[in-house]
Amino acid sequence: LSLSRLIVVSNREPYEHRLVKNHLIWERTSGGLISALDPVMRRLGGTWIAWGSGKADRNVVDQDMIVEVPPDAPTYHLRRVWLDPTEIKGGYQGYANQVLWPLCHLTLDRVAYRKAYWHAYQAMNARFAAAVLGELRGKSGFVWVHDFHLALVPGLVKAALPAQPVAVFWHTPWPGPDAFRILPERRELLESLLASDLLMFQTHNFLHCFVECAKEFLGVDVRSDDLQIDYNGHTTRLVARPISVSFQAWSERARTTQVTRAMDVLRNLHVFQPEVRIGLGVDRLDYTKGLLKRFWAIDAFFEQYPQYRGRFTFVQVAVPTRGDVEAYRSYRELIRETVNDINMRYGSISNSGSPQASRWRPIEFREGRIGVDTLAAYYRMADLALVSSVYDGMNLVAKEYVASQVDEKGVLLVSHMAGAAEELTDALVINPYDLEGVADAIRQAIEMPLEERRERMHRMRTYLETHDIRAWSDECLRDAGILPPDDRPTH
Ligand code: UDP
Ligand code: G6P
Repeated sequence: LSLSRLIVVSNREPYEHRLVKNHLIWERTSGGLISALDPVMRRLGGTWIAWGSGKADRNVVDQDMIVEVPPDAPTYHLRRVWLDPTEIKGGYQGYANQVLWPLCHLTLDRVAYRKAYWHAYQAMNARFAAAVLGELRGKSGFVWVHDFHLALVPGLVKAALPAQPVAVFWHTPWPGPDAFRILPERRELLESLLASDLLMFQTHNFLHCFVECAKEFLGVDVRSDDLQIDYNGHTTRLVARPISVSFQAWSERARTTQVTRAMDVLRNLHVFQPEVRIGLGVDRLDYTKGLLKRFWAIDAFFEQYPQYRGRFTFVQVAVPTRGDVEAYRSYRELIRETVNDINMRYGSISNSGSPQASRWRPIEFREGRIGVDTLAAYYRMADLALVSSVYDGMNLVAKEYVASQVDEKGVLLVSHMAGAAEELTDALVINPYDLEGVADAIRQAIEMPLEERRERMHRMRTYLETHDIRAWSDECLRDAGILPPDDRPTH
């Protein structure tokens, strides 16, 4: 690819360094943004600017704050930005995680607004903008800002360099005007985003909500089809580009011997009889993922269909996240209690008297980050995967499950509130609020004839094979005018 130098900016960095017993170790961080962008940067190269959040991050950077990553096989530059404690507490934990995140996900009760958070968010964004300008000094490049932590960066960069091309990808949903109204700084955010040249959303619905907010709070005129906004003498193009996964990488990984071996190990770890069917959930421990409702639905499933007690186990991989925010800590406690309660109530009930069966638990709860091979093993072995987000920009877990289902036997259940439901139309689409409905869908998935499972999974795999992360990034770069317009896929 002939490409102008790519400068990606996000709050979260893809790799963190820390010291364990005086040994420097590195780890990939969690979340959909990292999963999606790391393969893009590996392929295209360039510089990724992000917060150096790892405890030993400072030990590995050069004088320009750059470290080459991935640490085991470097292909691009990570330029670390250091945030001070006020910026972390007020900007990241406060304004980003306790104001914008719940607002964008329409969990308005959880919005905990403080004016001081806003000031810290401004300072944090100014720091990122300064790093971008530093990176651009004497060099050209295409600036691509990611997600709700950095909404003010486009405005700040454009104020300093009006001719500098800037694009934004918004990974979360965008709320409609009725919800966005509660944000005191709604105009500042909209104005900064409209300083960019290209504004990308996951779905047309989110794009439309943004346009409605711009109309209502800035009084803008919108040209045909919502696709262009003129504001303050500047034009911003808007596009909907659903993000995706490395289909090929997941498919290939799922077939490796490490993964097939891991499948045996995991089966022995979680279920003790070969006929037990496995359901799977993989989520950060975030209230937007609808974990509580999911477990209530599983409870309803065993209540409604007692014949499955001892014959179906739901494995939940729960990745710790945002532990410094009280709402996340209390949610985690509630989830743990709910799982324990359900396991206590059903755990001793089994359909056979064998000692192995008596170890059956309805929910196998695995808390912690896991490696990609283990994750691929879970994806490949699960008879069904359940995504029950109450609202979700995309949900890459849904797509990773499909990409890893090389045997084409599993069934995906996906919330109609997740962006992924728009594309994965052969999934069983569920309403996370309708507990009995979800319980019925679990039963439908377990009892679905093999032929139907294969057909549905095959169609979704065929779709994802061409709508993968590579196609997504090519399309975004074409939108930005960095790649020439071209309808031919790059596969
Ligand atoms: N994931 C991870 N560490 C784990 C388990 C999962 O990083 O231990 C990844 C998973 O592969 C997926 C991402 O976390 O790519 C979750 O993305 P998703 O879009 O589903 O939700 P998000 O966390 O971005 O809200
Ligand atoms: C979501 C957000 C990302 C964020 C990730 C993990 O995917 O869209 O921007 O990086 O969650 O959250 P964290 O707060 O750990 O960065």
